[in-house]
Amino acid sequence: MPKGRSVCIGAPESLGISSIFPAARCKAMDLMPNPNGRLLESAGKWGLKPIMRVNVGHFDEVCIRAFFQRTGLLYELAEENADLILTHAPNFKDEEHYIFVGPSGIQVNASAEAGVAAALTTVYKASSGGFIPHFSLKDFPKYSHRGFMLDCSRHFFPLSVVKKVIEEMSLLKLNAFHWHLTDDQGWRIESKEFPELTENSGYDFYTQDEIREVVSFAKERGVDVIPEIDLPGHTTALLRVLPWLSCKGKAPEEAYLGDVFSIIACAGKEESYNFLEKLLGEACGLFESKYFHIGGDEAPKTEWMQCPNCNAYFERLGLSSFEDLQGHFTCRMAEFLRANGKTAICWNDVTSARELPDDLVIQYWNEFSGAGSVAERFSAGRPVIFSDLRNMYFDYPQDVVTVQKVYSYSPALGELSCSQAPNALGIQACLWSELFSTEKELEERMFPRIFALAENAWSNSRDYSGFMRRMKLESDEAKARGVRVAEF
Ligand code: ACM
Ligand code: ZN
Repeated sequence: MPKGRSVCIGAPESLGISSIFPAARCKAMDLMPNPNGRLLESAGKWGLKPIMRVNVGHFDEVCIRAFFQRTGLLYELAEENADLILTHAPNFKDEEHYIFVGPSGIQVNASAEAGVAAALTTVYKASSGGFIPHFSLKDFPKYSHRGFMLDCSRHFFPLSVVKKVIEEMSLLKLNAFHWHLTDDQGWRIESKEFPELTENSGYDFYTQDEIREVVSFAKERGVDVIPEIDLPGHTTALLRVLPWLSCKGKAPEEAYLGDVFSIIACAGKEESYNFLEKLLGEACGLFESKYFHIGGDEAPKTEWMQCPNCNAYFERLGLSSFEDLQGHFTCRMAEFLRANGKTAICWNDVTSARELPDDLVIQYWNEFSGAGSVAERFSAGRPVIFSDLRNMYFDYPQDVVTVQKVYSYSPALGELSCSQAPNALGIQACLWSELFSTEKELEERMFPRIFALAENAWSNSRDYSGFMRRMKLESDEAKARGVRVAEF
């Protein structure tokens, strides 16, 4: 955009974001998540202007857009007399930031766009009735990965709902949206190479343009969109359209309920690999994340064990277990992703194989699949995202996975806790959608537990009663934005 032109960045209705300031609070700086750095508040407040002059310095303008969408204000880029000044702080970590709000406006120091986006979320949340109290704050996250997964396969959620989820994540400084796009019950990602995956399937799906729209919406909010195409299991929807990809070449029965299905993609045919590489290659181009999740969970080996192709390949590779065939499959997919600039993530089930790709990230969800080797690999330095189902599965009822459990989840594997291990990337909640289909049900599972997730993922402080007090304020604000929050 040419400098000096004012731009309207009002919040379109379709985004489901109301351009109102957060309701006035009894205390201005009750932030959620609780900051880790020093907060200094002083008397006075700065009035937001209808058209703000912004000096973005060396930053990409993308990182200021959400602030203006949320407030409904306009901005113009300006080098002199700016109301909002972004300053490069090369020594800061990725999302670390410093905010100063004083008589001449807002200053933000950060090393990268994600830090600016997080800072401006704080500024937005601190604002009330068009004013921001004078304050300074240095802040930084506990974990680099603060994630939330939405299963859009079991039930499809429209783009507006996906964006609303991302906006709510961003307001809580959650930075990784794990988009579970494929499973037994539905293939939700358009492929131009293989249009039959969505064309004749009868499934609702996201077009490539819609996916790009979500990625850029999330980027403006400091949220990374990590797609998941679950392989080689949980592929009923795929195999019903392309039966030749299965070991027996026959289409499986339609999958209605969430379950583990024994018919999975064949790992013994070169055509399978060629197909999957084309499919993943196309999908890689739609997402900017350095990560690509390829599932790997709950893949029974019954079909592979009876398949002539899988057996011939097994022999040729000199393997000693069919879990190792999945290990080989994972290595091939990860190698392909690497060549496309991506790092693979898999559920911890894949750790049943002896050999795994060197750069593979494990997402831990239980201690049964892949058994003890998850802990061994974590101690050996393998990067892990923690989503223990007893603490992080938001499809479980609120009285089972409680706010308190989410708040106090302190991930560890074997003898090693996250605080001792730099390879613990962070924590992530998962919302599987087998048992619900509406936006209301989705939100009532997400809220209020998402507040506890955000606080746990960002804040070093542990003060449950203080958190509960702030959670009440946050819930009221979320409700004012039209979000359904379950009773607590
Ligand atoms: C999972 O819950 N199957 C990862
Ligand atoms: Zn096979």
